[in-house]
Amino acid sequence: MYNADAKRYEKMPYRRCGKSGLKLPAVSLGLWQNFGNNGVYSNMEKMIHTAFDLGITHFDLANNYGNPYNGSAEENFGRILRDMRNYRDEMIISTKAGYEMWSGPYGDRNGSRKYLTASLDQSLKRMGLEYVDIYYHHIYDPNTPLEETALALDNAVKQGKALYVGISNYGREQTSEILKIFKELRTPFIVNQPSYSMLNRWIEDDKLDKYCLENGIGLAVFSPLYQGFLTNKYLCGVPKDSRVGRGETWIDDQLDDKMIGKLNKLNEIAKRRGQTLSQMALAWVLNNKAVATVLIGASRPEQIAENVGCIENLVFESEEIEEIEKVLRD
Ligand SMILES: NC(=O)c1ccc[n+]([C@@H]2O[C@H](COP(=O)([O-])OP(=O)(O)OC[C@H]3O[C@@H](n4cnc5c(N)ncnc54)[C@H](OP(=O)(O)O)[C@@H]3O)[C@@H](O)[C@H]2O)c1
Repeated sequence: MYNADAKRYEKMPYRRCGKSGLKLPAVSLGLWQNFGNNGVYSNMEKMIHTAFDLGITHFDLANNYGNPYNGSAEENFGRILRDMRNYRDEMIISTKAGYEMWSGPYGDRNGSRKYLTASLDQSLKRMGLEYVDIYYHHIYDPNTPLEETALALDNAVKQGKALYVGISNYGREQTSEILKIFKELRTPFIVNQPSYSMLNRWIEDDKLDKYCLENGIGLAVFSPLYQGFLTNKYLCGVPKDSRVGRGETWIDDQLDDKMIGKLNKLNEIAKRRGQTLSQMALAWVLNNKAVATVLIGASRPEQIAENVGCIENLVFESEEIEEIEKVLRD
């Protein structure tokens, strides 16, 4: 039987998600990779327990997470939760629908009421839950009226199957359109989930971060370590046992000598701050006021412990920010 660490709430900061009443841990854990049936169950369980013991209360899932089949991450998480039932009210569990999930026109990549409604029922069943805390539309669908998607999410709340709703991979324009509809419906829409890191700053270019900050929507940022680039893993090349080494990412062609040089320079700045590169990269993302939480991924418990260590130094001197900008620009 799992017993959580009694000191789990002593260090982690909890940040308000937009202007909502919900607080999220500065660091959250995502289960996109390494939680499917191709992983080792005891390692997954250890990662969830390690995270919770360190104050990570938020676990981010989606219907299609897991290999070799979609949904296996939710199944494994559900199995781990069976032993953590007593802590359900201390957890924020999110799931999503939007990408290809099951065969035929209703489980395809879309944002229809049919898909979002059926998918949430499936997710709840796989995880053994009565409700999720946050239900997301995973990716903007230009072929479904936004009103239909918004109503489907709102309906999930009315049915008691989700407490809050969110959107992911929506740009600023799309966010502002759906926000108007949610306002009319009085839907508890509180969060937007974009990718963002030192190496991926599209939300700044799009002004999505500014827009969300001004409109009370929190950002839960994914791939804050740029899928592992911003760690000490690739400083001397590509280890076999890594996401790039295993061929599990589409950004591997960006890991050239120039990039490795850049990562080493960033690592020098991190060292001066008394941090590892991953800790500095997470602190840098959390330094953006629009960001409520960073959604990290991990392949082993030790990475979670290292990454949570970012909270020891979240403050940047303006000279450090400038120095980082220079490295990123070069
Ligand atoms: N909404 C969306 O469309 C969307 C898309 C992608 C992700 N997400 C969410 O965001 C979460 C995180 O995404 P991500 O996995 O790409 O995030 P990430 O934190 O940028 O990358 C995580 C990977 O980096 C490596 N890593 C992490 N910490 C490390 C450390 N301290 N030292 C060395 N290596 C380390 C691990 O890979 P290896 O050890 O295997 O190399 C780990 O799996 C997902 O689980 C999911 O919840 C959402």
